[in-house]
Amino acid sequence: MKLEIGDNKAKEVLEKLINAVINLESERDISLFLDKLLSYARNIVGASAGSLYLIDADAKRLQIEVCQNDEIDINTFFEVTHTKESGIPLNSESIAGYSAISGEVVHVPDVDHIDVQLPYRFSSKIDKGSGFTSRSILAVPIRHPRDGIMGTLELFNPSAGAFEDWNIGILRNFSVLAAVTLSNIRLYDSLKGSYLETVFKLGVASEFKDGDTYDHIHRIGYMVKIVAYHMGFSAEERELLFHASSMHDIGKIGIPDSVLKKKETLNDEEWEIMRRHSEMGAKMLENTDSEILQLSEKIAMSHHEKWNGKGYPEGLVGDQIPKAAQIVAIADVFDALVHARVYKSAWKVQKALDFIQSQRGEHFSPEVTDAFFNGIEEILEVQKKFGELHY
Ligand code: C2E
Ligand code: SIN
Ligand code: SIN
Ligand code: FE
Repeated sequence: MKLEIGDNKAKEVLEKLINAVINLESERDISLFLDKLLSYARNIVGASAGSLYLIDADAKRLQIEVCQNDEIDINTFFEVTHTKESGIPLNSESIAGYSAISGEVVHVPDVDHIDVQLPYRFSSKIDKGSGFTSRSILAVPIRHPRDGIMGTLELFNPSAGAFEDWNIGILRNFSVLAAVTLSNIRLYDSLKGSYLETVFKLGVASEFKDGDTYDHIHRIGYMVKIVAYHMGFSAEERELLFHASSMHDIGKIGIPDSVLKKKETLNDEEWEIMRRHSEMGAKMLENTDSEILQLSEKIAMSHHEKWNGKGYPEGLVGDQIPKAAQIVAIADVFDALVHARVYKSAWKVQKALDFIQSQRGEHFSPEVTDAFFNGIEEILEVQKKFGELHY
């Protein structure tokens, strides 16, 4: 890349560029990525404000994703651009639109003097609403080498007074690197989405024979999330628990229907078989590199352990039981109580709550029980959303 600038300046810019690329490479969260992308682009050329647009799914509009501005209060600016126009039409009448359609870098040294021969105009709408005054603009298409143009980076008001020629070349290259990373994040997100869906569907499969399907899994997942929230788990940990808990009973796939669907109380032999669903589930989930499935394995294994050591299969006591399994246990029992099973009818809510409370420090961890009651309103909401309660 040939930079028409002094050696020291060139070195500084190159360092910024390398730093930007390294940092952007490792980002997996799409909105953080876009925010960083715009920051780095502005930083490289010293622009005091910027907007990042992406072409929306039906290729009709440029959707504004990020807005940054050092000259005015960004919240005002973002609200103005966001509410008044939630995007701009993908046509050549705007500067950003023209850049996205033509694939050209558009340099407007002075927004008040745009050649009337040119197809695009500067829209002063945004400026008027925000108090910001655009002087010069550089719009750079975000171009993927294979997938084409994904959006536009629009940079405003360079601190040096005017954009320089070298800005264009470097931003053009920077935008290609950005587009490739953006495309990788999108691919990763879609793989992650279909992976999580598969995990969830497996959980549903395990409940199919039991007669209860999505609703039960959803109730357990959301209740677990709520209890974990009241125990101080992070958002990420709660999300992991939500998905991992969906497979707590996967081992029931291996239990014969004659036992699983028996309406009367199980005899000793049948109970022996039934209890095996914990270990069988853990066995099905073992030896995986997936963080979710590793947690699922622990939950499947230990969700029938009791705080007082009287549970199965291992008779673990207290915090020997993985926290995730302690949490699933309370959600699982509450759900089993307030809904009908082939072998029992639904309990009234108050009776179930009294039972749960009576098991604090017996079946359930005291900490988990307290978190359960701290989240009880949200838990009952979830119950109503995905089922029916009896009062
Ligand atoms: P599940 O139906 O999902 O019940 C989960 C847990 O909720 C039970 O674990 C138990 O701790 C609690 N629970 C459910 N119903 C009652 C109840 O009426 N009273 C009390 N005090 N607790 C209740 P558990 O006992 O380890 O059972 C595990 C699984 O074994 C059950 O999952 C169910 O699939 C099966 N199961 C248990 N008892 C019977 C039964 O009598 N007949 C049949 N067909 N299956 C049973
Ligand atoms: C999924 O992750 O695909 C399903 C979980 C949900 O219903 O939110
Ligand atoms: C269910 O488990 O959602 C059906 C049983 C009930 O709502 O009582
Ligand atoms: Fe179970």
